[in-house]
Amino acid sequence: MPSLSARENWRLLGESAASLEETPLASLFATDPQRFSRYSIEAAGLFLDYSKNLITEEVIGQLLALASECELADQVAAMFSGQPINTTEQRAVLHTALRSQADSLMVDGTDVMPLVREQLARMGRFVDQVRSGQWRGSGGRPITDVVNIGIGGSDLGPKMVVEALADPTDSGVNTNPVKVHFVSNVDGEHLLQTLVNLDGQSTLFVVTSKTFTTLETLTNARSARRWLVDQLGSDQGLEQHFVAVSSNAAAVAEFGIAEANRFEIWDWVGGRYSLWSAVGLGIALAGGMEQFNALLAGARRMDHHFLTAPMEQNMPVILGLIGIWNRNFLDIPSLMVMPYDQRLASFSAYLQQADMESNGKSVTLDGQPLAIKTAPVVWGAAGTNGQHAYMQLLHQGNERVASDFIVAIQPREGSPFADHHPALVANCFAQAEALMVGRSRSAVESRLLADGLSQAAAGQLAPHLIMPGGRPSNTLMMERLTAETLGALIALYEQKIFVQGALWGINSFDQWGVELGKKLAAEIIDAMAGDGEPDLAADRDSSTAGLVQRYRQTLAGRSGD
Ligand code: F6P
Repeated sequence: MPSLSARENWRLLGESAASLEETPLASLFATDPQRFSRYSIEAAGLFLDYSKNLITEEVIGQLLALASECELADQVAAMFSGQPINTTEQRAVLHTALRSQADSLMVDGTDVMPLVREQLARMGRFVDQVRSGQWRGSGGRPITDVVNIGIGGSDLGPKMVVEALADPTDSGVNTNPVKVHFVSNVDGEHLLQTLVNLDGQSTLFVVTSKTFTTLETLTNARSARRWLVDQLGSDQGLEQHFVAVSSNAAAVAEFGIAEANRFEIWDWVGGRYSLWSAVGLGIALAGGMEQFNALLAGARRMDHHFLTAPMEQNMPVILGLIGIWNRNFLDIPSLMVMPYDQRLASFSAYLQQADMESNGKSVTLDGQPLAIKTAPVVWGAAGTNGQHAYMQLLHQGNERVASDFIVAIQPREGSPFADHHPALVANCFAQAEALMVGRSRSAVESRLLADGLSQAAAGQLAPHLIMPGGRPSNTLMMERLTAETLGALIALYEQKIFVQGALWGINSFDQWGVELGKKLAAEIIDAMAGDGEPDLAADRDSSTAGLVQRYRQTLAGRSGD
């Protein structure tokens, strides 16, 4: 197979990028009154406007041709049918099965669909028990607080969804009976800040770890157990306060959680794609099973669209291809994602892991070094806050950043502050417009002269007020943020990430890069605890050894200052 950069359409895209280099993005609108409708797609309750990108029909044609050269459709089919596309771990990638309603799906001779249905039913029973107050703490009290202990994919997705779908106006005991908290950081502060206001008698811990070997999660879980024993005054009845979500039955048992309290997750579900499984138990406990099912339904709608819509009208495909255009041909190194929605304040943190852990790779599936760039840096914050933090750099910094804006047309139903919403939406539209159009020298000067400045003063100030424009963005809109539209939004990004990984020819589903730091931390923690010289390998760099030494000396009260 030729390398991606050796493909004909790659070359053509390079030529297109060179010829568009001097074209102001805004001018593409002047020459095409149909541009907005030409470059927009509606699917699964979402509307995507991608017209504010430096694209032409020719570019889109070349991107689509590249996708077909890379046999994207076959790669999509391979994922959905359970082929072991995670080749370094020899695993299928089937988070889509978790939200599917297919009758059966065979993986390695096992039909996974009955497993999915059975696990969902188990979750449903458990969630109903907890939310109805039938599940009691060891002292007989109903559960009021759930603490999910997990990190990475066992934290970011569920936490983001719980925040997004929480209804602060609903304090009804029957509709919102439990509050779900998330503890991830091994920094004891995180656990402390979470537990300080909780009562052990009415607290349930969900230890969520696919591997059940993750240092942060096990450290927090052990401390949570200690705290609970202290709160209860005994270690009797802990089983009423601890459940686990893990594929590692032995480690869960060793920790002391009974098999009956373990929810399953399978090796064909990647951590960062797992919120649709029992890893989403916190989501279901917070909002109920009906809401969780609506989340699944939204994702299912997006999957259906991804599988059936023609490539040129396919939202994840187009979003993925635009990302490749920006990254590889316009050389834009980062993607800022800004939901104009406080409920989605954690969305960019979630997406950061989903995208960067998936596509932050530099070798192809067959281990060859890649000559091209892969995942951009993904970052962002909720709008309008981000506007007052980092948008200056996007408007006037000397490197282009691509942006995705996300906004709901309507605010939360029944919000007493719904009258704020037009201002929120207007700011979203305005940022995208300002990034694209910018402000020319002549526009700046005439404004300054109109404001009464002299020609000389205007000339001096003008360079500081010019905005180059030409910064590309996508805008994603939905009528309302609901469990269903959120499910579709998450699935959209999951599939977009897949499209990009498929074209780049990388394995989007392993994460070996995270391993080394974990291994080194385990060695360093031993060295930090030792009495003698730091027991670090002799060839260890002097910086690491020196930091350990200083740590130990400081604790021993002789920092040498
Ligand atoms: O951060 C690395 C990682 O391996 C992620 O891929 C994963 O989501 C996270 O650790 C947590 O892993 P686990 O669920 O096994 O504790």
